[in-house]
Amino acid sequence: MLEFEIIQNANPMAEADRALAFQNLGFGTLFSDHMAVIHWSADKEWHSAQVTARAPFALDPASSVLHYAQEIFEGMKAYRAADGKVVLFRPDQNAKRFNASARRLAMPELPEEDFLAAIEKLVAVDRKWVPEGNGGSLYLRPFMFANESFLGVRPSKEYIFCVIASPVGPYFKGGAKPVKIWVSEDYTRAAVGGTGAAKCGGNYAASLIAQAEAGKHGCDQVLFLDAAERKWIEELGGMNIFFVFNDGSMVTPPLGTILPGITRNSVLTLAKDNNIAVEERPYAFDELQADAASGRLVEAFACGTAAVIAGIGELKHRNGSLTIGTGETGAVTTLLRNKLVGIQTQALADSHGWLHTIPVS
Ligand code: PLP
Ligand code: COI
Repeated sequence: MLEFEIIQNANPMAEADRALAFQNLGFGTLFSDHMAVIHWSADKEWHSAQVTARAPFALDPASSVLHYAQEIFEGMKAYRAADGKVVLFRPDQNAKRFNASARRLAMPELPEEDFLAAIEKLVAVDRKWVPEGNGGSLYLRPFMFANESFLGVRPSKEYIFCVIASPVGPYFKGGAKPVKIWVSEDYTRAAVGGTGAAKCGGNYAASLIAQAEAGKHGCDQVLFLDAAERKWIEELGGMNIFFVFNDGSMVTPPLGTILPGITRNSVLTLAKDNNIAVEERPYAFDELQADAASGRLVEAFACGTAAVIAGIGELKHRNGSLTIGTGETGAVTTLLRNKLVGIQTQALADSHGWLHTIPVS
């Protein structure tokens, strides 16, 4: 297990400035005073673990990440309850997925205990940066990138692992309003054998043009179809997707080429707790259109760490648009959202042992 050196930021943000910034939290624009950093080299493996003042990296222009995009990341949140207790939601799952992404991108795995220690120590040092209530949380972004000065195409011999923290409010600007989704029929996100199940920056780079197209059509997120047939619904640019039918059952696309979302997995468990039948099976865009027309499809929602659970009101595509159910956030979506947020904010019992408390240091 690595020893972390803790170096306090000599110029932290003034209390009054932070309080002001907390009054209007968006997503990913404000950052805490510190960062966690660990280095890896082929000879020393993981070493030089620190929590230190957040500062820019100096990269050589030949740094491998700048050329071949060997980079992975995670997204997780710390929540503060009314009694001041700060918790992480299922951080062990982020540690495992991070290493699954590392394997796919031919990068070194970081022992889970070191991943968790980096997060814990950063949140402990930046504890005052965890907002309380009103949907606020401290979004944590662990990431790792290749940093060898070398232009040959092979796995790097040097990496930097880092965690930064950003106090956040709602991901979608419209707040609790149902979101609009653009179905991308031109661009795909992931093919069988590709990197769809890994959380690597390159997947997001490839999604940006489709996401921009969604924006042009007045939509909040892009929905990708499978790469082989452009028929099967996969996931959104940054979230998984669920559909709710008028018999109370749900369907969600199976794992494979999609990101195995921790929120998706938690929703599957919460659905079981609430006697909601869920099928993980391929769901075709044609079938969705028929189900929307017949009234069988009554709700859809997006889910992910950043977005939590957001109702989908409308889908737009090349040949038109369709409203899902009433176009408002439905009862099943609301129930599952309340259960999930209730656990995360410690208002409901953590019956699955999902919360990980940050000790007061
Ligand atoms: N799918 C994609 C492409 C994502 O970027 C995310 C966000 O992390 C998710 C799904 C949801 O994953 P999770 O619930 O683990 O945040
Ligand atoms: C997350 O929900 O953590 C994501 O990574 C989605 C997006 C903001 C990239």
